[in-house]
Amino acid sequence: NSGDRYQLKTEDGEVLRGSQSSSDRRFSNRVIETKPRWSRFNDSSKDRAALGEEPLVLRKDLDVADGKGERNPHTGRNFSRNYYQLLELRKKLPIYNHRDEVLKIVGENKFVVLVGDTGSGKTTQVPQILSMKYGKENNKLIACTQPRRIAAVTVAQRVAEEMDVRLGDEVGYSIRYEDETSSRTILKYCTDGLLLRESVTDPLFSKYSMIIIDEAHERTISTDILMGMLKQVVFEREDFRLVVMSATLDAEKLQKYFNNAPLISIPGRMFPVDIKYLEEPVEDYLRATIEAVSQIHREEAAGDILVFLNGEDEISTAVKDLEESLRNVPGEGHASGVHVLPLFSSLPSNAIQKVFQDPPPNKRKIVLATNVAETSITIDGIVYVVDPGFAKQKVYNPRNRVESLQVAPVSAASAVQRSGRAGRTRAGITYRLYTEDAFESLTAMTYPEILRSNLNSVVLQLRTLSMNPVQFDFLDPPPPETVMRALECLLYLGALDQTGQVTKFGKAMSVFPLDPELSRTLLAAPDLGVAQEVLAIVAMVSAAPNCFVRPLNKAREADQAKRRFEAEESDHLTLLNVYTEYMIHNSSSQQWCWENFLNERALQSAAKAKEQLERLLEQQGYSTKSKRIGFDYYGQSIAIRKAITQGNFMFSAVECKRATYLTTKDNVEVKLHPSSGVRTRPTWLIYNELVITTKAFIRTVTQVEGSWLLESSPNYFTPDHFTNDVVSYEIAKLTGERKKSRSAMNTNLRQAY
Ligand code: CDP
Ligand code: MG
Repeated sequence: NSGDRYQLKTEDGEVLRGSQSSSDRRFSNRVIETKPRWSRFNDSSKDRAALGEEPLVLRKDLDVADGKGERNPHTGRNFSRNYYQLLELRKKLPIYNHRDEVLKIVGENKFVVLVGDTGSGKTTQVPQILSMKYGKENNKLIACTQPRRIAAVTVAQRVAEEMDVRLGDEVGYSIRYEDETSSRTILKYCTDGLLLRESVTDPLFSKYSMIIIDEAHERTISTDILMGMLKQVVFEREDFRLVVMSATLDAEKLQKYFNNAPLISIPGRMFPVDIKYLEEPVEDYLRATIEAVSQIHREEAAGDILVFLNGEDEISTAVKDLEESLRNVPGEGHASGVHVLPLFSSLPSNAIQKVFQDPPPNKRKIVLATNVAETSITIDGIVYVVDPGFAKQKVYNPRNRVESLQVAPVSAASAVQRSGRAGRTRAGITYRLYTEDAFESLTAMTYPEILRSNLNSVVLQLRTLSMNPVQFDFLDPPPPETVMRALECLLYLGALDQTGQVTKFGKAMSVFPLDPELSRTLLAAPDLGVAQEVLAIVAMVSAAPNCFVRPLNKAREADQAKRRFEAEESDHLTLLNVYTEYMIHNSSSQQWCWENFLNERALQSAAKAKEQLERLLEQQGYSTKSKRIGFDYYGQSIAIRKAITQGNFMFSAVECKRATYLTTKDNVEVKLHPSSGVRTRPTWLIYNELVITTKAFIRTVTQVEGSWLLESSPNYFTPDHFTNDVVSYEIAKLTGERKKSRSAMNTNLRQAY
């Protein structure tokens, strides 16, 4: 049957045909009968040119300014053996020959753009080279931004090791909820979002002599805003330099944006990569991935495999599948099987470090990674890349303001980056799990995040810096309409007044590393006497939204365990229950989490998050103590749910049919997500997340009263604000027909810009 994409034979002889539904992707222990068919890559493609044809000959006889027995200028001690070992590796990086050029050009210019292939040593070497000169200038330090937390941490660890200093001394990192720097620090790796938040208290970035924006090609919102702001800072500060580094970005566009900045271009060190496509498309890329990996392991010569997947769940499933089916299966050049490792941001750092280490003898290393391995993290020794061609991307629809993470095809630029990961140590092979036609039809570049996002916090940040978000100098300006909508939301939240100025409340909101909705929830809690409870809930929602573990083979036990925490009127309260119990069992938390099907790591990060949020709330002059006197259970539940309503009233939904709700802001008909424990069938509820898969669901919901919604924002809840008759009618019932105040307000706001 030519329509069949797979033919799999199970151990007991059953033949599975055709593409399986994605819910049935586990097929461990089944023997794969047919192999995927690959077509060879054709020489003439632009792709190959982009990857470079010739292996570069390495020079091993480079000058060494750092002979043995020298003292480390930072510590005054002799360099360690490890230092010299790492130095040998550093000398082999393409950037090594360009050290003088980098110092010279940066010395002569205030803006510099540096472009080089991934793995050429930009992230680890350039800040290091520059820190020797600019890291102590006028007592100011250098910051190097990363779009991903995991990269900021691992790179800082690596660079501290390379410089032979203790992490947190001369070299440190700073990410949300974690600061590993000190007064000695001359080079700080941090996330772009963190640096952006620093600008609220220090708009001229006066602590820094230089900022290096790394991975600019990722075009995160924070990177885009930082570029716009730092461009301004360069004009205003004599003693400040900006270096922008990127793997693939259209350098010319950046150079132009930064007033015709000079370009340093680091030629890559790349071996040829053979690219194979599938002859026919597959429907289930996870299954195809496992097949491809098995095939490579059995048939291809020694060399490690890097696989790109989406998110923790997919990766964990695939790790298990591969371990079960291949662990001790000898492959070509690897007598004792495979060593399978996951790589995603929420892994603890010792697990992350493992991907950089050699596998046990005679085992083939297989790394299953998220997009983080595309450019941010370079793993040596990869010879084979398996690329299903998807990435999780934030998708935002400005019309109905729905923002969701969706698995979507990557851009051609990403596909080229991914395949390049195979050619770093020697010639490699990339297996693209799609057809050559499909490659041709990919969009050229990934769309900048700012054009795909909810801009509320961004716009609030820009307003606290007194920047006009409608006229901000973006590399790619977002549509003015979405900026206007963000301004409106901020008005309803009380962060801006009608003239568009940031209110005192808005200032406080902007200090939190949270969406404005959640910040307002936090700020509402102290007056209601439930600061501690709401701090925990917000921490859980923002740091551990998926703390429940539900293994497929123990689904029933897991559901039972979850039920013990459930509050029937609110999933937010369920999260609070989990948090409270977790804190009580803190000393034996590992065991306790395991027994209760909870993700301990997620809860740990929630605990950290709560600490930081609590500190910030205190700093804003709020009391973080809860008032327990006078509260019975319901009194407390009501106070907490009122606080949630105060911030999240725009995420409200009203029952329109039995068990079906209508979201107020975008009129989407939704059901409660199956994971919700709310059983009270409320008329009104608040939801944390709108998930659109095959159906639309709302997730993490809380029963609220219509009157609380009105109290939270009387300007927002007017019947004529809502185009949907059902919503409008329900709101009219609450307000008793209040009319038109909203349109007048919006006109004011619009005129202000
Ligand atoms: O930034 P770019 O992609 O140009 O390269 P890089 O991240 O500076 O990586 C340069 C080298 O450092 C690569 O060979 C990495 O494998 C190595 N590295 C490492 O071994 N451990 C880390 N934590 C980070 C980088
Ligand atoms: Mg890099």
